[in-house]
Amino acid sequence: MGRILVTTALPYANGPIHLGHLAGCYLPADVYVRFQRLKRSNCIHIGGTDENGVPITLKAESLKKSPIEVATFYHNEIKSELTSIGILYDNFGRTSSPLHHKLSQDIFLRVYEKGYIEPKTSTHFFCSNCNRFLPDRYIEGICPYCSSPGARGDQCDVCGRWLEPVSLINPTCKLCGATPELKETKHWFFKLDLLQDRLMEWLKKKTNWKENVREFALGWLKEGLKPRPITRDLSWGVPVPLKEAEGKVLYVWFDAPIGYISSTIEWAEKKGNPDEWKDWWTSEETRLIHFIGKDNIVFHALMWPATLMAFEDFILPSDIPANEFLTIEKKQMSTSKNYAIWLSSWLKEFDPDSLRYTLLSNAPERSDSDFSWNDYMGRTNNELVGTYGNLINRTLQFIDKYMGSRIPHKGNLKAEDMELLQKIKKLAKEVEDAYENFSPKRATEKFMELAREGNRYFDYSKPWELNKTDNERLSTVMWVTTSLIANLGLLSEPVIPFTAEKIRNFLKIKEYRWDDLGNLLIHEGTILGKTEILFEPISNEKITIERRKMMGNIIKFSDFQALDLKIGKIKNAERVEGTDKLIKLLVDTGGDTRQLVAGIGDVYKPEELIGKNIVVLLNLEPKEIRGVESRGMLLAAVHDGKPVLITTDTDVPPGCVVC
Ligand code: 2FM
Ligand code: ZN
Repeated sequence: MGRILVTTALPYANGPIHLGHLAGCYLPADVYVRFQRLKRSNCIHIGGTDENGVPITLKAESLKKSPIEVATFYHNEIKSELTSIGILYDNFGRTSSPLHHKLSQDIFLRVYEKGYIEPKTSTHFFCSNCNRFLPDRYIEGICPYCSSPGARGDQCDVCGRWLEPVSLINPTCKLCGATPELKETKHWFFKLDLLQDRLMEWLKKKTNWKENVREFALGWLKEGLKPRPITRDLSWGVPVPLKEAEGKVLYVWFDAPIGYISSTIEWAEKKGNPDEWKDWWTSEETRLIHFIGKDNIVFHALMWPATLMAFEDFILPSDIPANEFLTIEKKQMSTSKNYAIWLSSWLKEFDPDSLRYTLLSNAPERSDSDFSWNDYMGRTNNELVGTYGNLINRTLQFIDKYMGSRIPHKGNLKAEDMELLQKIKKLAKEVEDAYENFSPKRATEKFMELAREGNRYFDYSKPWELNKTDNERLSTVMWVTTSLIANLGLLSEPVIPFTAEKIRNFLKIKEYRWDDLGNLLIHEGTILGKTEILFEPISNEKITIERRKMMGNIIKFSDFQALDLKIGKIKNAERVEGTDKLIKLLVDTGGDTRQLVAGIGDVYKPEELIGKNIVVLLNLEPKEIRGVESRGMLLAAVHDGKPVLITTDTDVPPGCVVC
C-alpha cells in the first residue's frame, strides 16, 4: 500500500499558537490526515517544534531565561494547544534532541563532502555596542523589495522574500537599537546555484501544485539562485560539525526541515520498529506532503529540496499545499504588538469545532482571508446552530419524543426519498474531491449544503403531521433523515471532529469509514445514545467583549480595584462664576471634605444638590477647571446627553466604599 507522509511546519518554540498558525497550516493538514484515516490510507502526521537558532535565543534573552528553558516551556505549551483543538499527530518531536542534532550534522557533512557547501569570508553585520555579530532576527530594517518596516536579516514577513541582511535599508540592532557595522567573518555557503537546473526541472513538472507556491518558487529560480550562508555566529543550535567552524551553528532553516526526518525516526523507534522510517523517506511509494504557511514557501520549495537532492538518499516533496495569510478584522496579525487571537484564550471561551469550522470555511487557500468576530458569530449562529445543529437536534429529539428513541424502520421509499439519498452520494463525492485536493473550504460548503437539504426534506415531509396520520410513512421519513445525518457526521468529521464524534455516539455507529458513505451506517431498532445540543449560539455582547479584549480595551479586575470610589455627601454647592454648566461642590468623603467641579449646572440647581449622596472617584489626578481646582470626579449616568446623578438607595454615611 502506498504511504502518505504528512508534515506540518515546525513552529518556533518561542510563543504560543494563534489563529494564523491554525488557518495557514495546522487545520488544513489535520483535515487532510483525518480524511486519509477515514479512507484507511497508510498515512502518518509528523510534526514537532523548531527549537534552534535566533528565534529562541532572542526570546530567551528577553525573558532572561536559558534557550532550553524557553524551548521546553513552549514545546509543551504548543503540543497541548494543538491537541486541544483536535490536531492529531503520530509524533511531535523537538529539534533540540540529540537525535536531531546528529542527523543534521550527518546531512550537512554528506552535502559538504559532495562539494555543495564551501566556506567563504564575507562581511556581516556586527554590533559594536553589543560586541556580537547580528544573525537573522537580531537585525531589522526596511525590506528592500516591499518597503515594509520590521523586515529581518533573513526574511521579510510581509512579502515573504528571502533577504540578504546587507540589503536591508536602515538596519538596526534588535538588542540595543544601534546601527551596526560590517565586519568580516567566515561562513559556510550552500551552493544552491549548482542545483538550480535540477530544481527548475523538478518544479516545472509540478503542474498540479497550488499556483501561489509554484509561481513563487519559479520566480526565484528565474532570478537565479546564489550560494547562501547556512552557518551562523551563535551559541545555540546544531554545532557545525567541522573543526574550523568552532563556535558556529547551522542556520535554523538548514536544520529545521530535517526535523521532519528526525521526528519520523523517533516515531519508528517509539513504535518498536526503528527501521520503519526508512521506507517512509526513501521509497518512491511515499507521497511526502508538507503543509506550511506562505512565509515558509521559499524554504520548502527550494532550499529543502536542494538539501534532499544534494544528499541523494531521500525522496522529494510530492506537494506543498501552502496557504496564504489570515488577517484579523482586516489587520495584519502582529505577535510583537500582541495583535492576535491566541488559541489558549479562545478555548477558554468557545468550543474548538466552531473555530475549526470558521477558519476552514473561510481559509486563506488561494488568497489572504480575514477573520472577523461578526463573521464568526454569523457562521456559528446561522450555519452551525441554525442549519447543521438544528437538523440533528430536531431529528433526534423527534425520535426521542415520539418514536421511543429507536432508529426507525425503513419502509417503501418514495421518489423524494430516493432523490435525497442520491444527493447524499453526489455531495459526498464532491466533499471527497475537495478534501483530496486540499480544499477544506469547498468541503465545508458542500457538507453544509447537505445539511440544508436535510432541513428542507424535514420541513417538506412534516413528520409532526405524519405522527398523527401515517406511522409507516413517518418511520421512513425519519429513517431517511437519520441516514442523512449519519452521513453528514462522517463527511464533516475532518472539519468538526468533536461534533462528528458526538453524532457517532448518538447514532451508535461503531466506526466511521469513508467507504461506508451513502450506505447503511445506521441500524433500525437501535436505541439512540444520550443526545445533547451540539452548538451554542453566540451573543453580540460576547463578541463585543472579545473584540475589545483584542483591541486592548478590556481592563483587569486589579485595574478596577485601583479606582478609589466612595460615597460623598454634598455640603455646599455654587456655580463657577461666568459659567452655566459648572458647579463647584464641597463634598464630605468620610476622610476629608474636598472641592470638586462638575459639569451638571444645566440640569441641577446648586441648592437642590446640597445634602445628596453621590459617588466620587477620589484618586483621580487633580485638575483645574476654569481656574478652580477639582480633586476627584463625581459619577453620573448620561441620558439624552444630560447628566443624571448616581445616588444611594438608602442613606449611608460618607466614606462608604463603592465596589
Ligand atoms: O516559520 C516558522 O515558524 C518555522 N519555525 C517553520 C519551520 S518549518 C520546518 F522546516 F521545520
Ligand atoms: Zn518585503
